[in-house]
Amino acid sequence: MNWQYCIFVVLAMISFCSCQNNTTMEPNTAQIPTQNYYGEAHRPQFHFSPPSKWMNDPNGMVFYEGEYHLFYQYYPDSTVWGPMHWGHAVSPDLVHWEHLPIALYPDSLGYIFSGSAVIDWKNTSGLGKEGQPPMIALFTHHDPEGEKSGDSTYQYQSIAYSTDKGRTFNKYEGNPVIANPGIKDFRDPKVIWHEETKHWVMVFSVHDRVWFYTSPNLLNWTFASEFGVPDDKRLWECPDLFPMMVEGTEETKWVLIISLQKEGPNGGTATAYFVGDFDGKNFIADYKKQYWADFGKDNYAMVTWSDIPQSDGRRLALGWMSNWQYAQVVPTEQWRSAMTLSRKFTLHQYGEDYRLRSMPVEELKVLEGPIQTIASGSYSGFTTLADQPGQHLYKLDVSFERPASARVGVRFSNEEGEHLEVFYSGIAQQYYVDRSVAGQADFSEDFAGSHAGPVDYKRETVDMLLYLDHSSIELFADAGQCVMTEIVFPKTPYTKIELFVSKGEARLLQGSLTALKSIW
Ligand code: FRU
Repeated sequence: MNWQYCIFVVLAMISFCSCQNNTTMEPNTAQIPTQNYYGEAHRPQFHFSPPSKWMNDPNGMVFYEGEYHLFYQYYPDSTVWGPMHWGHAVSPDLVHWEHLPIALYPDSLGYIFSGSAVIDWKNTSGLGKEGQPPMIALFTHHDPEGEKSGDSTYQYQSIAYSTDKGRTFNKYEGNPVIANPGIKDFRDPKVIWHEETKHWVMVFSVHDRVWFYTSPNLLNWTFASEFGVPDDKRLWECPDLFPMMVEGTEETKWVLIISLQKEGPNGGTATAYFVGDFDGKNFIADYKKQYWADFGKDNYAMVTWSDIPQSDGRRLALGWMSNWQYAQVVPTEQWRSAMTLSRKFTLHQYGEDYRLRSMPVEELKVLEGPIQTIASGSYSGFTTLADQPGQHLYKLDVSFERPASARVGVRFSNEEGEHLEVFYSGIAQQYYVDRSVAGQADFSEDFAGSHAGPVDYKRETVDMLLYLDHSSIELFADAGQCVMTEIVFPKTPYTKIELFVSKGEARLLQGSLTALKSIW
């Protein structure tokens, strides 16, 4: 146990003792020290991670009165999955986060599984206060006793409401609002307001497909339709549904996100999407073809924020930066898992097809320190860009002329002889994140390896934008067409950064390396 953590434990105990008289006895995470806090090995410095213990999916992402809310699947008693709560944090800018007390605790109906949140602007539910719309959280209750008893109706959809900006929630007395008809995997509601038909729409996963329900008031729900792919029998989880204007046109298409429990692009769990049309009741995919939203191994349950003001108009997303193959055994001690950076989606047309691109949000600029320009020109072999023991957080932005056969990329290394490589291969015409010798990996045979991200659309340049944190790398290649998110556990942080060109020469068109600051 290091000294920062000791301080945290002592403060947590003081705060626990001082709330013994309260009825809730919720931990007061506002007491967590901010100085030197988050200094443990591998602790992300500009990604969201819980103060301590286990976290999985992001939940209830909603914007209200200047705050981005991030709720998350949380088990406050252990660093492995257990009885689920909703942890809670808020941010003014999608970059800096303030931890708030746990928002939803398990109750007699079960654990609090994944779901979403909306602002009920017109108070259709009647759960608001005079002049103040309620924030409504919609989630799955998972009854562990029901599961043990072998019956199949143990997951159902429920709601909770808040009239104090998400600081406290009341569970709705009429829960569940959608009962289970006898289907084992029946969870993860995402709710949106459908303006054209003036009703609420809920989409949730039902084993290997999604179901849509509609409601006038968030309380009474009617089944509308289902969507699935006949040959896909994988488990679908955490759907999302939203309209997007196709870039450069006036056309609107609908995107249906799902997370898949196996056979991700590089193995294990991953987030995918379909593009099609939605009339308020039925989703019709253009092609029943699913695309990957991220080719890396570590972006699951990615969903988008509700209620982003029209004046902003962005479609903002964030995912859980792990993979169920090894999430529970990664080598962190006080906490487990972090979220991806917040991203902005855009939708683009390619021939008859539409594809999402994602790029990190512009707000991240506030983290930028000194910028080093990398001279353009012809490169071959290894060129050191930085080698500064005290600096481990970087943004790297490089554009090469697309090489016919060379590999162009970057190597991050430490003094332990570990290195992480991210590169484009001219021969394979793919991007790669190679974490084969990047750090600790003996906790799972599914972890180490070189993972590929294909690029379908030919460009003249290879454009790589990278964000390196203590235990993750995010590649946004070709203006967000190919995204790869991966976690790494180097024994000590990488301090050396080298540009590399192997199997030939390549021309660098532009490049910059920016030191980033910690958010804590
Ligand atoms: C996805 C998931 C969800 C479920 C939650 C439970 O990672 O399995 O389907 O609601 O995690 O923690």
